[in-house]
Amino acid sequence: MNQSIESLIRSWDGEEVLVRFDRSSGAWIVFAIHSTYLGPATGGTRMKYYPDLAAAVGDALRLAEGMTYKFAVAGLDRGGGKAVIALPENFDRSIRDDLLRRYGALIHQLGGLYQTGPDVGTSAEDMDVVSQTGAPYVFCRTPENGGAGDSSSPTAAGVHAGIRAVGDALFENPSLKERSILVQGAGSVGSRLVDLLLADGARVLLCDVDSARVQRYLDVPGVSVIDPEAAFRTPCDVFAPCALGGVLNSDTIPRLQCRGVAGAANNQLAEESDAERLHARGILYAPDYIVNIGGALAIPGIELEGWSIGEAEERVRQKVEEVLNLVFRSAVRDNVTTNEAARRVARSRLDI
Ligand code: NAI
Ligand code: PHE
Repeated sequence: MNQSIESLIRSWDGEEVLVRFDRSSGAWIVFAIHSTYLGPATGGTRMKYYPDLAAAVGDALRLAEGMTYKFAVAGLDRGGGKAVIALPENFDRSIRDDLLRRYGALIHQLGGLYQTGPDVGTSAEDMDVVSQTGAPYVFCRTPENGGAGDSSSPTAAGVHAGIRAVGDALFENPSLKERSILVQGAGSVGSRLVDLLLADGARVLLCDVDSARVQRYLDVPGVSVIDPEAAFRTPCDVFAPCALGGVLNSDTIPRLQCRGVAGAANNQLAEESDAERLHARGILYAPDYIVNIGGALAIPGIELEGWSIGEAEERVRQKVEEVLNLVFRSAVRDNVTTNEAARRVARSRLDI
């Protein structure tokens, strides 16, 4: 049953939620500020259609919480936040930039409380538009506008490192030679990940609901394109969700035929108890907010600290490997799920 907006917000442990109705476009804008304990609430802008406002608020709340854990576990001085722009059905794309400019003006009004970057449904070019109305800091603007551009390359590097760490924990060897990796979603991150996996000697099983996205892989040696419906029942060593969240749930987990899970998608667990379900099935779960730290770690490093792209990707790889190894070890030592072990690492830096 759908929860009401009031109960969603009341039961959430974050700091504040701001909701604005953008009358001229019919879009709702939701800012979820989960924690500013470690620094400014930072997180991407998700822009898509939702069936109702409660679905948009619920998504923003969970995504913002994930950002808090992402920065905390990586040892970064940033807090977690997320913004959702919930588009109406039949949205008129000709007014998209106007909406993004008004959204940027709202971030400006928040006076530094929230910093953003792209997420599902927004791009580096969109961040250029958002920054036009004075939003204090907008990550991932295009290089022509002084930003580092799209974050999918460092994100894919981190996911690759995460899959290797899972392989190492399962098979005592990080090499992916002849390992089978099922990549769900051949979008910006998924397609870059496929290239890295192939270079590592892996066999890739790939699916996407948009058949145009897998077209170019049909004749690529080492890649087998599979039906998206088959993703949860196809045998593989590691399942890499790189599409949307909620894919690990009470319906899919009993069907999975993988040994481990490590992917880019945010909020892969539909609910916390799904971590127990994976554990009970002996599937090693690499928590999503560790595996997908790439953009959130690399882009501020490149834009604010002057790291080169190569240095940023190397730091991402090292961080993902280091944190996952710590989490895997403490999960075994404390006899808890990897999800709980990761939370404990993050909470040791937080006030929650
Ligand atoms: P994208 O939108 O470029 O790609 C997602 C792909 O998944 C699309 O090709 C879409 O058709 C496909 N897809 C959707 N539902 C599917 C399904 N049921 N089965 C198979 N394919 C499906 O997004 P992007 O940037 O590649 O991000 C992927 C995920 O990683 C998202 O959940 C995003 O929040 C997360 N993420 C991305 C980061 C980045 O730097 N781009 C950073 C951290 C997380
Ligand atoms: N979409 C990114 C994530 O989920 C958000 C982000 C990118 C935030 C770059 C800051 C900088 O991690």
